[in-house]
Amino acid sequence: MLIAGIAFFLTGLIGDNLVVERPLKQMAIKIDVPTEATPGNAPAQAPLPPVAVLLAKADPAAGEADTKKLGCVACHTFTEGGKAGIGPNLYGVVGGPHAHMQGYSYSAALKAKQGPWTFAELNEWLHKPSEYAPGTKMTFAGISNDKERADVIDYLHTLSHSPEPLPTPTAAELNPPKASTAAAAPAGDPPVETLLASANPATGEADTKKLGCIACHTFTNGGKAGIGPNLYGVVGGPHAHMAGFNYTAALKAHKGPWTYDELYEWLKKPSAYAPGTRMTFVGIPNPKERADVIDYLRTLSPNPEPLPAK
Ligand code: HEC
Ligand code: HEC
Repeated sequence: MLIAGIAFFLTGLIGDNLVVERPLKQMAIKIDVPTEATPGNAPAQAPLPPVAVLLAKADPAAGEADTKKLGCVACHTFTEGGKAGIGPNLYGVVGGPHAHMQGYSYSAALKAKQGPWTFAELNEWLHKPSEYAPGTKMTFAGISNDKERADVIDYLHTLSHSPEPLPTPTAAELNPPKASTAAAAPAGDPPVETLLASANPATGEADTKKLGCIACHTFTNGGKAGIGPNLYGVVGGPHAHMAGFNYTAALKAHKGPWTYDELYEWLKKPSAYAPGTRMTFVGIPNPKERADVIDYLRTLSPNPEPLPAK
């Protein structure tokens, strides 16, 4: 009996020494969550809604189900003492330090983040891991749906002996000022409504020549496509409005009509508004010039869209 015991113990020791854990160089699985715009999703560049507001309506049971639906379970365990898989065990991660699992080989990108995982940081991280920690090993597109993301964070927060208290939304977070319609415009630029009130379509037309739009676009009714589509009737028309033009999926993914706000954002930096677009044009950084061009585009219609009310 005793010899058998010792032998068992020894083989265990030898075994441990023979098998060296080798971290995977690359993730075996890549799971992308579709990121098409569903109601409740934040537009590409806008700040995320405050996590306290989202968590107030979150449901941890739905969050647990989401970790299965979204594929977190392919890489993570969630029980206390659970093993690492492709990703670390997640018990106790909320309020714990970044890279909280002892012995797990985290990327430098994640280890560089100091301090505890707050609710706000998890909101950013799970929205887009590659943006929160560029270079992270977590090859997961992110959860673009606000409700789903909050549910998952709420669930993670229950994985603890003494769960962190949920944050209470401030009055300002609960009742954001009405100016939020202008939130689509990047910070610093005046709202397009204000600029359009004093915009000049003739200057805008001159700008389309000066800035080189005419190298790729025609503007007359029935004009042919060039490198880019004809732009007659684009204001108020649908995104990718020219029938028969071969638009990118990036642009076609934007639904609904081209509003002034959206044109204002698009023309500021096409590659930021629709990453992957074929419109290889850096953008018009000057807000006044942008408004003039939009005002000109507006006139290209038998019945131009009214200017926005101020
Ligand atoms: C393809 C595998 C994979 C999927 C799918 C995945 N993760 Fe991860 N996750 C990782 C890896 C790898 C890391 C470590 C990242 C690093 O070191 O940069 C990580 C890290 C994390 C961390 C930080 C842990 C810590 O200790 O700091 C959290 C939180 C997390 N993941 C949550 C999730 C959630 C929630 C989901 C599903 C919505 C998910 N992950 C989906 C692989 C994955
Ligand atoms: C190098 C060529 C090029 C230049 C220069 C260019 N565009 Fe474009 N434009 C394109 C292409 C290509 C598309 C289609 C993009 C896609 O499918 O992703 C496009 C799309 C557009 C759209 C959306 C059309 C629709 O039907 O949804 C607008 C509006 C637009 N451009 C305006 C402008 C303006 C204004 C300028 C000058 C300030 C300009 N473009 C400069 C090539 C160009």
